[in-house]
Amino acid sequence: MDKLLITGGRPLSGEVAISGAKNAALPILCASLLTAEPLHLTNVPHLNDISTMLRLLGGMGVGITLDGADGLLLDGSGLNNPVASYEMVKTMRASILVLGPLLARCGEARVSLPGGCAIGARPVDQHIKGLQAMGADIRVEQGYVHAQASRLKGARICTDMVTVTGTENLMMAACLAEGETIIENAAREPEVVDLANCLISMGARISGAGTDVIRIQGVARLHGATHAIMPDRIETGTYLCAAAVTGGDVRLLKTSAAYLDSVVDKLLDAGCEITVERDAIRLVAPPRVQAVSLRTAPYPAFPTDMQAQFMALNCVANGVATIRETIFENRFMHANELMRLGANIQIEGSNAVVRGVDRLEGATVMATDLRASASLVIAGLVAQGETLIDRIYHLDRGYERIEEKLARLGAQVQRVT
Ligand code: EPZ
Repeated sequence: MDKLLITGGRPLSGEVAISGAKNAALPILCASLLTAEPLHLTNVPHLNDISTMLRLLGGMGVGITLDGADGLLLDGSGLNNPVASYEMVKTMRASILVLGPLLARCGEARVSLPGGCAIGARPVDQHIKGLQAMGADIRVEQGYVHAQASRLKGARICTDMVTVTGTENLMMAACLAEGETIIENAAREPEVVDLANCLISMGARISGAGTDVIRIQGVARLHGATHAIMPDRIETGTYLCAAAVTGGDVRLLKTSAAYLDSVVDKLLDAGCEITVERDAIRLVAPPRVQAVSLRTAPYPAFPTDMQAQFMALNCVANGVATIRETIFENRFMHANELMRLGANIQIEGSNAVVRGVDRLEGATVMATDLRASASLVIAGLVAQGETLIDRIYHLDRGYERIEEKLARLGAQVQRVT
């Protein structure tokens, strides 16, 4: 099992390119199920979750051809097996995103329930409720969702809470439904908008993506298209945090601050200087960051996927910060590991109080989920001495070549097996 060995105390400086967004690429890969024509994608990140999704789609009969460094050609004409097995789904919850497209294209689907994960129970009841509103006959038996629908019909759906993949599943299903579907309380995340833009380029009729009401006029079929995946705003925010705590000066390329207002605001409050260019963002850190309190919430508020990274930043900040996690019920597991490095954190339910310390000391720590592992990397970069992070398969799910990118910025980091 791979580990990451980091020797902290070096400011990050220089330039590095940001990869395509994992959470845009995953639903957009599933959009290939909606058409028999080729879908050509570029700026696809090389991540374990992407490989898992490609294996899942390949098993259903989707043809997959690599095209250059970050391109893919997906051919859904051979789709013949609308099944997502537990073995595949248990390793990646986002597999549930095949449910809506399979129902819309094949009229049937058999998809394993994802089950919980480290950060919470993460049910998919809203996905099911929305598809049932569109006329699907759905039974949940032996841990599988069995869904059938001769043809989905447009419906007005209001989800009980804002759900990103729930909105994406229903939007994809609605593209081929008969009539109009209105999704209210829709997720406004930029990745939902990127998916909508790809679907529109495939011939879908969608309006309102990026707002909390999305309208989809069903069409008979979708055609092929070419689409470039948007930059990964969470990867961007993660490197900005790493530069901020190490007193660094970094310029991130192939990305933008367009979808990071709430994160940039917090970094400015922490004392960083930020310069925004058309497709780059530069951060110059202060000698020591100021503590910044935050509360996670659906976009455009502060993203839950940046909470762990900012907890690491607050561990060495000047002052006391309060962090409130409102999206997931168990997303503070990085706190115990950060405390092994000398952090001063008190957890009270969904609140964490972080008192900045002058110095963290390197130690052996264990990654528990994707963003928790990013938090430990950030802490390791600023801790004195060596930090060894175990179970970094979590990290490889969402960060492309992280040790290469960090080394390019001057970090002393290596992958050890
Ligand atoms: C997406 O997960 C992201 N994953 C997550 O990123 C992200 O943390 C999350 O949105 C919130 O922004 C992908 O896009 C692949 P939700 P998702 O449905 O869609 C509850 C990462 O680190 N809920 O928006 O699964 C749910 O339990 C990952 O890249 C229901 O109760 O999250 C949660 O409390 C982690 N029933 C809240 O809603 C449902 O049917 C928001 O979940 C659906 C959701």
